[in-house]
Amino acid sequence: MKRIAIFASGTGSNAKKIIEYFQESEDMEIALIVSNRAKAGVLTIAEEEEIPSIIIDRAYFYESEQMLFDLKQQCIDFIVLAGFLWLVPKYLINAYPKKIVNIHPALLPKFGGKGMYGMHVHQAVIDAAEKQSGISIHFVNEAFDEGGIIFQASCAVDSDDTAKDVQAKVQKLEHEHFPHIIEEVIGNTFSQL
Ligand code: GRF
Repeated sequence: MKRIAIFASGTGSNAKKIIEYFQESEDMEIALIVSNRAKAGVLTIAEEEEIPSIIIDRAYFYESEQMLFDLKQQCIDFIVLAGFLWLVPKYLINAYPKKIVNIHPALLPKFGGKGMYGMHVHQAVIDAAEKQSGISIHFVNEAFDEGGIIFQASCAVDSDDTAKDVQAKVQKLEHEHFPHIIEEVIGNTFSQL
């Protein structure tokens, strides 16, 4: 059984979809939820699903290697970022090479980087009069949104779309694709070892 940790700090709609998806799996399970916001919706979901969770702060995450200790203690094999906005420190990247993935709500390399999250991304897409947007699932390295891209899916941006409209279209793609792509990546990662 491969054990997955989800790092999420937002409403957790992706985390919820991922948890639901892996409930049926015999090879992979969501074993831990990590959040840097005590009020994150994802923590309620974790409680409902009886998945252990950890609330972290900056000192814990950046000034010690306690995060790694806790992940190892929970025997975590793979990390999924689903709405986690902090840069992942080097000690974690080194400990989980190509075993951390993130989802970004736009077609990278466009509209990525620091400050490009949530509605800022969708507004930037509208302001640039893009004809399409979408999702990018990528490996995580030490820079924001710059690790190797694993998968992208796109949606049309219509001329009268607002940022909220784009967000809804992108979220639909996220929920549809993120769980099965995670499953595929984990399958590939561990079959090569
Ligand atoms: C998603 O749009 C994801 O692409 C981004 O953060 C958002 C998280 O949304 N990285 P939710 O908390 O899963 O609803």
